[in-house]
Amino acid sequence: MNPGIESISMYIPRYGLDLHDLARARNVDYAKYHQGIGQEYMAVPAPDEDVVTLGTNAARQALQNVDRSEIRTVIFATESGVDQSKAAAIYAHKLLGLPANCRTVEMKQACCSSTSALHFGLSTVAMHPEQKVLIIAADIARYGLGSAGEPTQGGGAVAMVLSADAKILRIDPHVGYYTEDVMDFWRPNYRDEALVDGKYSIKVYLNALENAWKHYKDDSGAGFADFAHFCYHLPFSRMGLKAHLHLARHENAGLGAKELQAQVEPSLAYNRRIGNAYTASLYMGLLSLLETGPKNLTGKRVGLFSYGSGCMGAFFGGKVIEGYRQHLHTRLHQDLLDNRQNLTLAEYEDFYNHVLPATGETYRTDRHRTGSFRLAGIENHQRLYEPVPSMRIMAADAAEARVAAPAV
Ligand code: COA
Repeated sequence: MNPGIESISMYIPRYGLDLHDLARARNVDYAKYHQGIGQEYMAVPAPDEDVVTLGTNAARQALQNVDRSEIRTVIFATESGVDQSKAAAIYAHKLLGLPANCRTVEMKQACCSSTSALHFGLSTVAMHPEQKVLIIAADIARYGLGSAGEPTQGGGAVAMVLSADAKILRIDPHVGYYTEDVMDFWRPNYRDEALVDGKYSIKVYLNALENAWKHYKDDSGAGFADFAHFCYHLPFSRMGLKAHLHLARHENAGLGAKELQAQVEPSLAYNRRIGNAYTASLYMGLLSLLETGPKNLTGKRVGLFSYGSGCMGAFFGGKVIEGYRQHLHTRLHQDLLDNRQNLTLAEYEDFYNHVLPATGETYRTDRHRTGSFRLAGIENHQRLYEPVPSMRIMAADAAEARVAAPAV
């Protein structure tokens, strides 16, 4: 048995903000965002997108070459849920046309529930090797206009199909865990924006890394030198580098700065251009490594650290499988990253401030550029989702290309 990731894809909003524009508007030196925090661009979801549409768009792609009747479990990991009771997984399950004999749940623990979803999913696969599990991780990071966290906002989704016949990454059984009750980042039910003590969060992140790593080492017998590359949860891309240097120092890894940087740098490229996507961030880092890193990673071992504020950390590893490149959706992801509409600062603030009526009255959302699914509105307190005909997506892209075409 080869339990692990059979298929993986991401989806990001079709709009974004260049951080040059944010730096100008907030009177901040762009070098702080670019070098200090490591961000260039922020994904901004449109008013007719939420975690259900982001996640379902990612899943549609991840399921492209998978027999949907084999999916028996859907786990939706998010901390930007749309309902206190009904799982986002059920909306996704319907939109994706998955079989009715399916278990569908939502999971929460800040940015790391996606990793618990992955491990719960792998336990299912170990027990029932004929079944496949769909994991959807989707989030929208909101810290507030003008807040210190603003340049680290973002959003998007990653979907993965887990099976006993992994085609991309075989996941090892050992996991190192660490849990501690701390208040570094949280979002009470009455708030749309997170409360965060950023500096404290960096400290507890590094402490959770150190302790989860120690547990992992004790449990698995593996060490730093067993991994060719590392992926970390990325609230902002510099955090990945900080974490890796911290771990290397702690382990006396004996590698120079250039070698250490090469171990983590390829996993940071997507985050720089997307921002934080909470539960999806670590797996966007994994995609970034597989799609923008060294051409042949076959047989290489990758170490992954998942962190969720509050806090829980998990360290685990996996081995890249021969032929993995042909199962990636690299072209699609590059297209998503390269063909986004730049918002002006005023448009970004309008999108950010858009709220659905809390009274549940009938409301139709304006149509924006989206993927194949969008939030059409609300009726009787019920969210209405609809597929977007592909002709309409293509027309929106063509109109965008005409606007962007240089005048002759
Ligand atoms: N040029 C280059 N670098 C600069 C700079 C400039 N002009 N000005 C500042 N910097 C550097 C700082 O030295 C610092 O680097 P360091 O961390 O290596 O010391 C970095 O930029 C950030 O500056 P800082 O003053 O710490 O920024 P801040 O008070 O605005 O906070 C965050 C930055 C990341 C803490 C904040 O954006 C935040 O809280 N984000 C949310 C994080 C989060 O989500 N955490 C929870 C989940 S893990």
